Amino acid sequence: NAASKGTYEFYMLKEISEQPSVLRHLDQFYLDDKGEPQIDKAILTALAQADRLYIFAAGTSYHAGLVGQALLEHLTDLPTEVGLASEAGYHFPMMSKHPFFIFLSQSGETADSRVVLQEALKRKIPCLTLTNVPNSTLAREADYTMSLEAGPEIAVASTKAYTAQVALEAILAKALGEQLGKQKARDFSLRTNLALAAEGIEEVISDQKRLEQLAQKYLIPSRNAFYIGRGIDYPLALEAALKLKEVSYIQTEGFAAAELKHGTISLIEQGTPVIALINDPVTSDLMRGNIQEVVARGASVITIASKELAKPNDDLVLPQLDYYLRPLVSVVVSQLLAYFASKDKGLDVDKPRNLAKSVTVE
Ligand code: G6P
Repeated sequence: NAASKGTYEFYMLKEISEQPSVLRHLDQFYLDDKGEPQIDKAILTALAQADRLYIFAAGTSYHAGLVGQALLEHLTDLPTEVGLASEAGYHFPMMSKHPFFIFLSQSGETADSRVVLQEALKRKIPCLTLTNVPNSTLAREADYTMSLEAGPEIAVASTKAYTAQVALEAILAKALGEQLGKQKARDFSLRTNLALAAEGIEEVISDQKRLEQLAQKYLIPSRNAFYIGRGIDYPLALEAALKLKEVSYIQTEGFAAAELKHGTISLIEQGTPVIALINDPVTSDLMRGNIQEVVARGASVITIASKELAKPNDDLVLPQLDYYLRPLVSVVVSQLLAYFASKDKGLDVDKPRNLAKSVTVE
């Protein structure tokens, strides 16, 4: 049964391991035999009338929203904003003439997102919820809903729901881009890239011993850690840091690498772990420069790079896939580092202290 732990010690590792099949299932579920997205006409028609998209979410789903923003803007040319639901509830953003709201929520029950949804419905703004729980509150109350199809996620730390969200955003972006007549969207080979991502995740998972060693050597002995990235690696750095801190209790910050020099670099000491994400061809040289800067101050750097940007000493080399979908694979590296940092510290990986799987209070 889908909700049993099977032979896994923790649900988190089971759910991390399910990600390749989640991506393959999403392909089967949402793409036709030519690899074209099959999305409810009513949703596409409503989306195509929008002059601006607004994504609202919390936690890990918010980080998936940041990747979705890049994907949607790239493939549709529609300005897209991402907001923390908890903030928008009190300070509603300025609206364009024809806004369209997208809610991302694994559980479909997050109270902060519901506050924004209620306000949007009152204002007659069309709303779409992407959720893993089709009967959830946010799914029932929105005008439209799409299922993440990730199967039950039991571990408190979200893993496969994130990858499903990013993949579904890509599917939506391609469908909408094509609907709007964008050549970029037609040229975007979703099927190929989802397959490459699934294979890439399998490679990362088969390298998990190596990730466990890195977690043991650099992360577990440390009180703090940093993820740095630029471009598409920036939202990934945020999610990677959240994952590590929530399950291992190592204080972790994720930030845009160029911001190092504006403050954070003062925290680097002998042995401080810095995990550098290098998946962006435009900024990889600048990232290498940032690595030099932190190494010179004593940091222990773990480098994770896409194949075409990798150097011989990089700790992990990831397969090359579409720029915007790279987080699908690199996030799994961060999930496994977090998993092992937690497990090897003897913590309850699936139930970190003070956290709940779904937060139904504002
Ligand atoms: C809780 C969970 C997180 C999740 C967040 C948003 O804090 O512990 O893993 O990302 O809520 O939840 P949602 O169900 O709306 O995606």
